[in-house]
Amino acid sequence: MGSIVITGIGELTTCDGTGPDLLGIRADAAIVATDGLIEWIGPAGAAPAADDRIDLEGRAVTPGFVDSHSHLVFAGDRAEEFAARMAGQPYDGGGIGVTVGATREAADEELAALVASRVAEARAQGTTTLEIKSGYGLTVADEVRALRLASRFTTETTFLGAHVVPAEFAADREGYVELVSGPMLAAAAPYARWIDVFCEPNSPHAFDGDEARTILRAGAAAGLGLRVHGNQLGPGPGVQLAVELRAASVDHCAHLTDADVAALRDAREQTVATLLPGVEFCTHSPYPDAARMVTAGASIALATDCNPGTCYSSSMPWVISLAVRELGLTPAQALYAATAGSARSLRRDDIGRLVIGARADLAILDAPSYLHLAYRPGVPIARAWPPDVQGRRANGISPPSAP
Ligand code: NIG
Ligand code: FE
Repeated sequence: MGSIVITGIGELTTCDGTGPDLLGIRADAAIVATDGLIEWIGPAGAAPAADDRIDLEGRAVTPGFVDSHSHLVFAGDRAEEFAARMAGQPYDGGGIGVTVGATREAADEELAALVASRVAEARAQGTTTLEIKSGYGLTVADEVRALRLASRFTTETTFLGAHVVPAEFAADREGYVELVSGPMLAAAAPYARWIDVFCEPNSPHAFDGDEARTILRAGAAAGLGLRVHGNQLGPGPGVQLAVELRAASVDHCAHLTDADVAALRDAREQTVATLLPGVEFCTHSPYPDAARMVTAGASIALATDCNPGTCYSSSMPWVISLAVRELGLTPAQALYAATAGSARSLRRDDIGRLVIGARADLAILDAPSYLHLAYRPGVPIARAWPPDVQGRRANGISPPSAP
C-alpha cells in the first residue's frame, strides 16, 4: 500500500480524548498514513514526504464512523409493518419471524449481494467499521451461513441465535434455549467474535433474564465476548444482566430505572450503553435519555441497528443528528459516541480515534466542520476513506483484538 500524506484538511477532529469535549480538534493539520496505519499527525507545513498525496481542499475530517450494531444479513423487507407502526401499531418483535422466513429462502448469492450492497451503502455515508449480527436464520445451518457471510465483510461478527424463539419451537422454548446454547453455539462460534441475546420479557417472542443468562454464559464459555439487546420495549433485566456478566455492550437502553443508570455508571470501564435512536424514530417510541446517562458518568455509544424491522437505515450521520435533536447530546458528544464510544463497545482501541498507530480510517465531510453532521440532517456530506482499497479492509474490516 505504501505511504500517503493527507493535506488540505479544513478541520481535523481526532476524538483522541483531549481538549474540550474530548474531540482533540486540530487546525491546519496533515496526516501521514503508511500501510493503512496513522504514522504522523502534525502541522501541514511540517508534513514528511510520502509516496502519495491527497489534498482535501478544506474539507473536515473525523474518525470513520464505527457502527457497532447492525443486522445486515437478511432478505425481504417489512415496509408494510413500518407503515402500520406509523399508524399506531406497537412493535413487539413478532415481525422478526417474517424476515427469518424470507432469509431462509434466499439463495447464498442473493443474500451475499444484499449484504454487499448494504455494506457499500454504509461506507458511502462514512462508516469504516461495522459489527454484523446473525439472527434471521435460527437453525444451525442458517445461523452458520449468516455468520460465514458476515465474516466476508467484517471481523466484528455476532451470533444472535437468541433473537426470537422460532415458530417451530413455539411449544418448546426450553428446547430452543438448549439448542442455541449447545449445538448451534458450537457450530457458530468459529465464525463469531461476539454473542448477543434479545433479552426482553416485554416481548412474547424474545428471551427473559434467566434464559438470556444461560445463553450468554454458554457463549462466554465458548470464548465469545458478550453483547445484550436490553431495555428496548420497557424496563427489564437486560442492563443489570449485562453488567453482571461483564458484557462489552448493552444496546437500546430506552427504559432505564435509577438503579440501571447507577449500574451503568459503576460499570463504565467495561459495559457501554449503545443507543440506537433510529429505532425509536422508526417504531414511534420514546427515545433513551442519553443526557441522563452521560451526566451520571456512564459510557455511551451510538449505532444504527440497521435491520428490516425497527430501523432500515445504515446512516450514522442521521443517527448523530437524531442523537443531538432527540437524545439531549451535544454535537460533540454525539460524534464522540459514534466513533470512540462505539469503538470502545467493541473493545477496540485501533479505530474510532485518529492517533498515531491507529487505523487511518477516516470520514471525509463535504463541509468545513463536524458540526455539519447534525446541522445538515439527511444531506450526504460524509464518505469513508480509503474509498476503494481491495479486499477485506475495503468493507470496513479491521483486525480483531481479544474481546
Ligand atoms: O435491534 N430487538 C431485536 N432486534 C432488532 C429488530 C429486528 C427486527 O425487528 O427484525 C432490533 O431492534
Ligand atoms: Fe438490534
